[in-house]
Amino acid sequence: VAGRYPSALGGGSVGIEEPRQVRSRSDFPEGFIFGTSSAAYQYEGAVKEGGRGPCIWDSASHMPGIIHDNSTGDVANDHYHRYQEDIKLMADLEVGNYRFSIAWPRIFPDGRGPVANPEGIAFYNSIIDSLLARGVEPFVCLSHYDLPQTLQDEFGGWRSPQIVPLFRSFAEACFAAFGDRVKYWITFNEIHNFALKYTNFGCMASSGLCGTGNISTWVYTTGHHMLLSHASAVELYRTKFQAGQEGKIGIIADAQWYEPYSDSPADIEAVERMQAFQLQWVLDPIYYGRYPEVLVSRLGDRLPSFSEREAQSLKDSVDFVGLNHYTTHYAIDQSNSSAASYMDSGAISVGSKEGVPIGPLAGSTWLNIVPFGIHKILNYIRIRYNNPIIYITENGVDEDNDPATPLKVVLKDSYRIKYHLDYLSYVNAAIREGCDVRGYFIWSLLDNFEWDDGLSKRFGLYYVDYVNNMTRHAKDSAKWFKEFLRPLPQPK
Ligand code: NOJ
Repeated sequence: VAGRYPSALGGGSVGIEEPRQVRSRSDFPEGFIFGTSSAAYQYEGAVKEGGRGPCIWDSASHMPGIIHDNSTGDVANDHYHRYQEDIKLMADLEVGNYRFSIAWPRIFPDGRGPVANPEGIAFYNSIIDSLLARGVEPFVCLSHYDLPQTLQDEFGGWRSPQIVPLFRSFAEACFAAFGDRVKYWITFNEIHNFALKYTNFGCMASSGLCGTGNISTWVYTTGHHMLLSHASAVELYRTKFQAGQEGKIGIIADAQWYEPYSDSPADIEAVERMQAFQLQWVLDPIYYGRYPEVLVSRLGDRLPSFSEREAQSLKDSVDFVGLNHYTTHYAIDQSNSSAASYMDSGAISVGSKEGVPIGPLAGSTWLNIVPFGIHKILNYIRIRYNNPIIYITENGVDEDNDPATPLKVVLKDSYRIKYHLDYLSYVNAAIREGCDVRGYFIWSLLDNFEWDDGLSKRFGLYYVDYVNNMTRHAKDSAKWFKEFLRPLPQPK
């Protein structure tokens, strides 16, 4: 098996020494970059402006019962109107990189090219130019949990192979319009999470199209079409744009870490299966042109297969991998039980053991703070995929949006500073062990629309006052980040 995690590194936090605490960016190799990350639907708002067509999240967020606090992304944090101010915040932090996504329905309002909406092109041109003018490098993601609603209505969106050439043509419009200045492209954000969310929410959003099929099968067909769309867009970039534009292209994988619930061989094996159904499901096709064996054997014909030609187009289809990592949970073997398991993996994960959480809980109920997990997942990827170039494209922590807490208290987010320093210290340790990590992006610059959690969770370095004029207020973590990014004076 390629890259089985060596037992010396697995099995609990035992065996990992507390890493050296980092203090500033100068603890990282020269050229290591820092940034912040965002996504169109979570930031922009202005869903009916600039000629934008509807997307599946417009529909989903307006359906009763989907968004926990009944908010929508109609306004989000109003970045569409305030991007200049927000880019100024980035420049003020002196954070040299910004990852954002392009809303497909701003470029092609009904999802179909080839004629792009000039207002959509102008909007992203202005963002890119403003970033560059302030010395901030754009990292641009083409798909962050989104889809034009028309394509959902016409043929079931990501559930159908018809999506592949349409995604390619959207990607082509973006490479052609922005590729002279954008040097880092990302096809998809988190196919694993997206496919899960999409089958739960996107499908519901277009009632009627869901039919009576089996959602747990659609997850795999949906993920399959996303992988093929990725491969098709990369093939196009590499044959038509890359040489002239001198850019790089990659994909973002989401991966938690898992610790075995007990030291039984079955639970240790469950860790590997959780990784198979999350990380390997996406990255094995991308590095090896095939799905992991355990998915093939457990899912049978519920897992689509790649033709020879598709496998070839997927194999080695990235210049770098983006890693979104936040948390670690326990994995429990479930293979001898008829109870439901995670994505039919024969395993489940939990955040605590005998009432004791694996790490302190943040605002989100899934987010246990376990800094050593990032060290383990980085080494896991290094070993399994032959030490690829990795950018940590998301890492962050949230608090509940509690209107009763006074603003001056909310802004004192010392836990967020500690979170980043602790996780960064483990990233640093992984780099010293040979992991080729090139950058670290914080999720997120601003509080924003957290999908089904709506506006109820705040991940920002800046607090957004949704009630009073959308004013941005620096949390202590924003001030800390600015200091952190300033290199310490070197000893003479
Ligand atoms: C993953 C997603 O890419 C992003 O959209 C989300 O807001 C964060 N993680 C936090 O949950």
